[in-house]
Amino acid sequence: MIEPLILAIDTSCDETSAAVTCGRRVLSNVISSQVSLHKKYGGVFPALAKRAHQERIDLVVIEAIKRAYIALHQDCSLPNSKNSKSEARNPKQNMRNFKSQNTKYLENLNFGRLNLANRQASLFRTFEFRISDLPLQAVAVTQGPGLAIALEVGIKKAKDLVRCIDAKMQRSKENSDISETMHLCVSESPKLIAVDHMEGHIYSTLAQNKNGLPKREILFPALCLLVSGGHTALVLMKDHGVYQILGSTLDDACGEALDKAAKILKLGYPGGPVIERLAEQAGSKKSKYSLSPPLKDKSNLNFSYSGLKTQFLYLVESLSEKKFGQNLKNLAAAFQEASFEQLIRKTSKAIEIYQPKTLLCGGGVIANKYLRKLLRSLAKKNNIPVFFPPKKNLITDNAAMIGIAAYHKFLRKEFITDLKTLDREPRLSL
Ligand code: KG4
Ligand code: ZN
Repeated sequence: MIEPLILAIDTSCDETSAAVTCGRRVLSNVISSQVSLHKKYGGVFPALAKRAHQERIDLVVIEAIKRAYIALHQDCSLPNSKNSKSEARNPKQNMRNFKSQNTKYLENLNFGRLNLANRQASLFRTFEFRISDLPLQAVAVTQGPGLAIALEVGIKKAKDLVRCIDAKMQRSKENSDISETMHLCVSESPKLIAVDHMEGHIYSTLAQNKNGLPKREILFPALCLLVSGGHTALVLMKDHGVYQILGSTLDDACGEALDKAAKILKLGYPGGPVIERLAEQAGSKKSKYSLSPPLKDKSNLNFSYSGLKTQFLYLVESLSEKKFGQNLKNLAAAFQEASFEQLIRKTSKAIEIYQPKTLLCGGGVIANKYLRKLLRSLAKKNNIPVFFPPKKNLITDNAAMIGIAAYHKFLRKEFITDLKTLDREPRLSL
């Protein structure tokens, strides 16, 4: 079977993202971050996030389609449209042709100055133009968990796109325009696929470049450690799409705790990367501060971070301004150490109980090099392979991971048959 081309969208929090995937291969993964907008609030401001998603989604989708088109035309091994073989022989010339034909058109699309009606019309003209060269078989979108008003933006766009492609197909069928229908390369209307954001983070570990690398395969059962700004969980994956939650956070998520700790230290948002940088500078010797690990005596696989955060707040408040300034790096290192100790302890326990054959680690906090090092040595000790997302832009929120999760749902024919029935699920759970 030729792997389907899927256009995926994620607007679950503060990144507006669209991607095109072909099976597990990522052809494009466009991410527009809103970090600079939310920075002054010290966290995500939902109404602002919604507006920014609305303003950016069209451009992000068009850019994802454009980049995927270029990737496809550089590689004839992927399902392709017209002229693929001759063009693939000369990708540079092909790219030049593509640019000269289309850049003028894209440059004319100044979304800032156009009114909304024109803007929609322009989007669809551009979209139809691109879609003729991109035989999409499905549009996938994050249904939840996430911010309700942010999720809505992506879901609405995904439905609009399915309707738009569908209308184009119907039109070409009615006009018996065989060349047009062949050009679309698909005989059926595109499917709509709803994806759980956390399932996306799991599948981010299986992402491949457009040449199909890396060629890793999951051995089941797999243990998934998900550590993001909204979630901290251990999930047993018995097969594709078959999950059992083994433990999750009882209060704050690990990423959320790192963000709050950074706020206590009067550092910027998001906190994870700043804490990582400071902790690195503190050096490898043990931090002079230590925090007592949460849930130390509990044998279950749940997590807790709010006690750690309160402990940290009291510690910081007990320091003079001078001491605080002198020990910023040590404080960051102490909080990071205690946060990750809990992740490693619980993951180790889950490995002991469930004897998984693969360890999959996803979510924004996995961007932390020190955490990946700890997880690598845990996996080595237990003699199991560990997979992380293979590229940085696949770790924090992105749409490519949604496309890869959707591909596995496509294989199981898990489609939304009536578009009206798809609604956002801010508290969706695996
Ligand atoms: O997965 P993600 O992008 O969004 C959610 O689904 O929540 O995760 C965002 C979280 C934030 O809390 C951020 O501070 C954390 O990931 N993060 C990091 C690093 N980069 C991002 N935490 C630790 N170290 C990092 N390098
Ligand atoms: Zn996420």
